[in-house]
Amino acid sequence: MGKIKIAIAGIGNCASSLIQGIEYYKDKSSKDAIGLMHWDLGGYKPFDIEVVAAFDIDERKVGKDLSEAIFALPNCTAVFCCSVPKTGVTVKMGKVLDGVSEHMADYADSRKFIVSKAPESEKEQVVKELTNSGAEILLNYMPVGSELATQFYAECALEAGMAFVNNMPVFIASNPKWAARFAEKGLPIIGDDIKAQLGATITHRTLVDLFRKRGVKLERTYQLNTGGNTDFLNMLNRSRLASKKESKTEAVQSVVGERLDDDNIHVGPSDYVPWQNDNKVCFLRMEGKLFGDVPMNIELRLSVEDSPNSAGVVIDAIRCCRLALDRGIGGILYSPSAYFMKHPPKQFTDDEAYNMTLEFIEGTRDY
Ligand SMILES: NC(=O)c1ccc[n+]([C@@H]2O[C@H](COP(=O)([O-])OP(=O)(O)OC[C@H]3O[C@@H](n4cnc5c(N)ncnc54)[C@H](O)[C@@H]3O)[C@@H](O)[C@H]2O)c1
Repeated sequence: MGKIKIAIAGIGNCASSLIQGIEYYKDKSSKDAIGLMHWDLGGYKPFDIEVVAAFDIDERKVGKDLSEAIFALPNCTAVFCCSVPKTGVTVKMGKVLDGVSEHMADYADSRKFIVSKAPESEKEQVVKELTNSGAEILLNYMPVGSELATQFYAECALEAGMAFVNNMPVFIASNPKWAARFAEKGLPIIGDDIKAQLGATITHRTLVDLFRKRGVKLERTYQLNTGGNTDFLNMLNRSRLASKKESKTEAVQSVVGERLDDDNIHVGPSDYVPWQNDNKVCFLRMEGKLFGDVPMNIELRLSVEDSPNSAGVVIDAIRCCRLALDRGIGGILYSPSAYFMKHPPKQFTDDEAYNMTLEFIEGTRDY
């Protein structure tokens, strides 16, 4: 069925895990491959994905072969596949725009982004690079708060005639204007903000759903998250956080049934703890009332390596995008967006989204 050629903007921890994963599963079979939602998705295996173009702005990544760039500082995620062979793909300088938060200047080089002195690429250069590479799908991994940089890469995807998977919370798929532009060009789009394989969001949503189904009234909840990667460092700048908070909070509110008062729900990144590196810890509390108005509460602590957790989902989003391309389907892919993303254009419960995504994969549902 051929290779799925992708391009990536932002070679941080999530891209590192994804690229390691593509290599890791090469010598596995359906019987010994664990950690995947699908070994075979519509005829495509994980190793059918090939990265053919990459962009970043960090001096330790730009100009390097992708196989080296994914392990360069400040990336700090777990290395579960250390033998990624040379790819022949050189990371190109992107356009910085609002990709780098000013407050990072106060931190050690090993923890922050360092902007390369190479000349920035203009839109025409990025589009040319994308077109020449033969990439069909562009993945966006910009830091939270990168409104302009995300729009820049979305614009490049449109001009290059590529599908777009938006893994972060600047709203593109869930912004009707942007979504319409992809639909007009017949280009598939999945977004926004990847929902990790077994992370805080899916766990919180599942418990909220459980409360609802068991007739327990949820009255108050919080989800506090700490981590030590550049994603968490970036999010210390509260002015960049609005869309992330909305994305994470809505993901929970949308399954509550009767929405909680804003004062009774707090969901968000909470602090940067350097020694945690890419380990994310989530502290979750839910308070409710059960039979006879009798109060109850539940506390949960979840500890996960953040970036492999996202890559385990992106690997399916990419394959769904390719199925849409194969079938000549463009515009928002509602089912995969609802199942794979925190802030899709239309929210469904995870059970509904799961079944809809299976139908999409089987080809009995178009979107
Ligand atoms: N880890 C997860 O489970 C998860 C889940 C949901 C969403 N996300 C989101 O995915 C995004 C990527 O996460 P990450 O952990 O890989 O972040 P990261 O900080 O490790 O990587 C971001 C990369 O983007 C590069 N960059 C910054 N500005 C750029 C520009 N203008 N052009 C090109 N490259 C630029 C940086 O140099 C860095 O390499 C974040 O927005 C994060 O919130 C991650």
